[in-house]
Amino acid sequence: MSQLFAESRVPRAARTARGVDIALVVYRPIAKLDVDRLVLHAAELLTCRGPQSGIHGAALRAVETITDGALAIQGERIVAVGTSSDIIAAYAAPDIVDAAGKLVTPGLVDPHSHLLYGGTRHEEYESKVTQRAPETPMEGGIRYTARKTREASDGALIGQALGDLDVMLAHGTTTLEAKTGYGLEQDEELRLLRLTAGLKHPLQVVPTYLALHVLPHEYARRRQAYLEQAMAALPEACKLAPYCDVSCDPGSFTFDECLQVGEAARALGMKIRVHADQHGDARGALLAARLQASSADHLDYASDEGLRAMAHAGSVATLLPGVTLHLCEMTPRFEGAVLGPAEKPFMPLVARRAIEAGTVVALSTDYNPGSCPTPSMQMVMQLAARLYRLGYAETWNMCTLNAARALDLGRDRGSLEPGKRADIVIWSVATHGMVINRFGVNLADTVMASGKVVARSGRLV
Ligand code: NIG
Ligand code: FE
Repeated sequence: MSQLFAESRVPRAARTARGVDIALVVYRPIAKLDVDRLVLHAAELLTCRGPQSGIHGAALRAVETITDGALAIQGERIVAVGTSSDIIAAYAAPDIVDAAGKLVTPGLVDPHSHLLYGGTRHEEYESKVTQRAPETPMEGGIRYTARKTREASDGALIGQALGDLDVMLAHGTTTLEAKTGYGLEQDEELRLLRLTAGLKHPLQVVPTYLALHVLPHEYARRRQAYLEQAMAALPEACKLAPYCDVSCDPGSFTFDECLQVGEAARALGMKIRVHADQHGDARGALLAARLQASSADHLDYASDEGLRAMAHAGSVATLLPGVTLHLCEMTPRFEGAVLGPAEKPFMPLVARRAIEAGTVVALSTDYNPGSCPTPSMQMVMQLAARLYRLGYAETWNMCTLNAARALDLGRDRGSLEPGKRADIVIWSVATHGMVINRFGVNLADTVMASGKVVARSGRLV
């Protein structure tokens, strides 16, 4: 504790205090608490405060803002949040960050990515958007990425992942879920999981073992044998990752297959995530509820019954607008030279149905080389508002506290509140709506992770 006289306050206190108390009021030392760092004078401080269990229903449409907002930080934690005058009156720090004219928010949380992969899929993408066959036949899809990943050395995979984490952090993401999934076979999946769990970076990575992604061709007639080898990795996987993910989709695995692997993972203490109902209703949302999954993701074709079951089970619905954009899912396919009828559900309905079912809705990149090559949660926010017709408050809640809840971290981060990790973004714009209204450039100015400044002027320090 420092015993400071707040001398600048003397004249004002003397004017406003009455009678014989004046001397006592004016000259009593004011005890300020010493902390490591203050962030002061934010044009707007967006707390994203809410229940640890996440925000749902009508509450999604509101987000708390403090004008001339400020924060006090001690070590890796936030100790106080308020107006600048409140914080200045109560705290002193050797390091003051001036956020004048700027928006201050919690760090963004990205709860779905496939961080480690080899190769690129940009060539097949041109065929996809033009719907013209490539001049020379080419391999593509998840199985192609799995081959390129197997060919990549540990050092190459780690180097690429660290570079991607740098970009994500500079764009305001301070926590990332990272799944395996391009191993497809037990040994390779475990290699990817060990590399993911061993990553050292200021952006915190939460690893997931993606046990069931797609079936390798050689297992086409031996599906149960494939499940067995995926489950054989669980005793090792559960030491490396808190989560096991299964893909319950018409193009990948059935409800019963996912249930079998999911229950085996739960028996070893792992929590569950589900790729659910991306290409059709495979009862993936119902599976997520049955396994009390932390989150089910994609959900384009999830049934209302499934979404309601998820709300009841406390499973977060994580939507992936980058996939919607990149796979042109908002756009009808070509039929000959003209556009045909839309095949996908009208995209805004995906978000509205999830909200109306009462689920906690989150947003994520699904960063991967195939269906979503953007590592930017800013881009995801900007796309979500446009493609799903979400308001600014809804979008912010879904990328902060609700995204933290999708990783069972709602108690620890996702909002600016005393006791939470000091993961903070100071933006180059003054209000939260502008982060969503503008698009295409990095609007994150200063990023703090666990109380330390890790990026300034959009660049890592
Ligand atoms: O989450 N089932 C989908 N898996 C990934 C796609 C990855 C890829 O295309 O390489 C997804 O979207
Ligand atoms: Fe995915």
